[in-house]
Amino acid sequence: MSNASAAASDHRPDYTRQPNNSKLKHIPGKNGWPIIGVLPELRNDVFKLAETRWKEFGPISRVHFGPQPGVLALGPDMAQTLLLDGDRNFSTRMGYDYALRPFYGDNLLCLDFDEHKFQRRIMQTSFKTPSMRSYVEIMNPILERGMDVWVFDDSFRFYESVKNLLLRMTCKVFYGVEEHDEGSDELAQAFVDILDAQEGIIRLDLPGLKYHTGKNGQRFLRDYITKLIPIRRAGDGQDMLSHMCKETKPDGSYFSDEEIVDHASFLLFAAHDTTTSTLNHLMYYLAKHQDWQQRLRDEGAAQHKDYLDYEDLGNVVELDAAFNEAQRLNPSVTVLVRRSIRECELAGHRIPANTMIFQLPMFTNRMSDYWTNPHSFDPERFFPERAEQKGHPFCFMPFGGGAHKCIGMHFAAMQSKLFMHQFLRKYEFRLPDDYKVAFTYIPMPKIKDGLPLVVEKRRA
Ligand code: HEM
Repeated sequence: MSNASAAASDHRPDYTRQPNNSKLKHIPGKNGWPIIGVLPELRNDVFKLAETRWKEFGPISRVHFGPQPGVLALGPDMAQTLLLDGDRNFSTRMGYDYALRPFYGDNLLCLDFDEHKFQRRIMQTSFKTPSMRSYVEIMNPILERGMDVWVFDDSFRFYESVKNLLLRMTCKVFYGVEEHDEGSDELAQAFVDILDAQEGIIRLDLPGLKYHTGKNGQRFLRDYITKLIPIRRAGDGQDMLSHMCKETKPDGSYFSDEEIVDHASFLLFAAHDTTTSTLNHLMYYLAKHQDWQQRLRDEGAAQHKDYLDYEDLGNVVELDAAFNEAQRLNPSVTVLVRRSIRECELAGHRIPANTMIFQLPMFTNRMSDYWTNPHSFDPERFFPERAEQKGHPFCFMPFGGGAHKCIGMHFAAMQSKLFMHQFLRKYEFRLPDDYKVAFTYIPMPKIKDGLPLVVEKRRA
């Protein structure tokens, strides 16, 4: 194809072809270190980074995230403006394009506005009540078998154990792939390789580089899902891929294989590490706060069931509050990114077109204007009589908001509750003596040493 005809057939909006803006000297702030910008602070103490900025510069400040210049937008008012975006000033696609498109193509976070709205319908059946109910039935026995083979010796690390368990379960619920199916081990490995590659700095598809291993993983994953599409479309499976294969467009046609593969592979990414991270933080807080661990165990015992059913999920209100509280203190997505499409104004500052804008949900989730003793673990703040999350529509934002609000937030809560219910019934757990926790926040928030726990089986 000639250059001219290639350009004519390129229907991308003009703003997606523009480079990022770096002319930000007129905005007060600090870039951070040469090349790495504020990455060290982001990795080790997100809240302190944000709080220092907030006190010195207010809601908007100039910053470098790695080599990338942009602005930091802090607090719930900025979140409301950026995420609701009534004037269509901010592109989600251009916020995530560099990080996500090479691995997940036209996924939901790499689409804007009408195109995004249209594509999001591919997931509508996957998250309706009948589907959610069927996932509960699939997940409960897998969770039980998974935790029953864990060995709780000195080398036990909750993070690795739960990550592997959730990955196997996710392959089944998302794609209908069983552990003994051909290629299932390679599928799990492919996904791990893609995640590793996303962290790599050198992006060259050359043998020996992490990026190459990740791209091989991506090729395997895409090929695997593509081959499953006709099988899932012809079958009566209740997994998410089966639902997506049967979803139709307004003209009655199916979504293309390419579209399905982009969305299905992205789902694994969006769901897996985030829920792993949440469960780690929740387990840490419950190991530390034994009173809450017992409260949740008592609440679960009152259900008189080994497994929670879908209908029971609304009864475990204390577990729900603890899940939210762990999310509030340590949200699983550290940075939300947008890029301005045209010149606009934020908190009185002129933001040029094509400027990267970074938000840190953890700061908003812990602002003392909305939360009492904001750094303490206190799930009762979510009880109806206190309802601190209602202080501002965007003061609690672990799942984002607006058009791109997490489509899997109820799934994540459900999966976490099913896991916690079973684990609390079987085991008691605490932190090792003299344990000192160290958190890290990028690329994914987690506890640095993988969370060693002392776990004992409960007497029947
Ligand atoms: C605790 C776990 C989770 C957290 C904290 C979380 C957080 C988020 C956040 C903050 C966003 C919005 C990003 C933005 O606007 O920039 C998002 C989007 C998304 N999440 Fe989640 N997520 C979680 C679990 C899940 C799960 C389990 C699934 C699927 C089953 C999922 C699927 C998605 C998808 C598809 C999007 C893109 C939505 C769109 O662009 O329309 N997430 N998530």
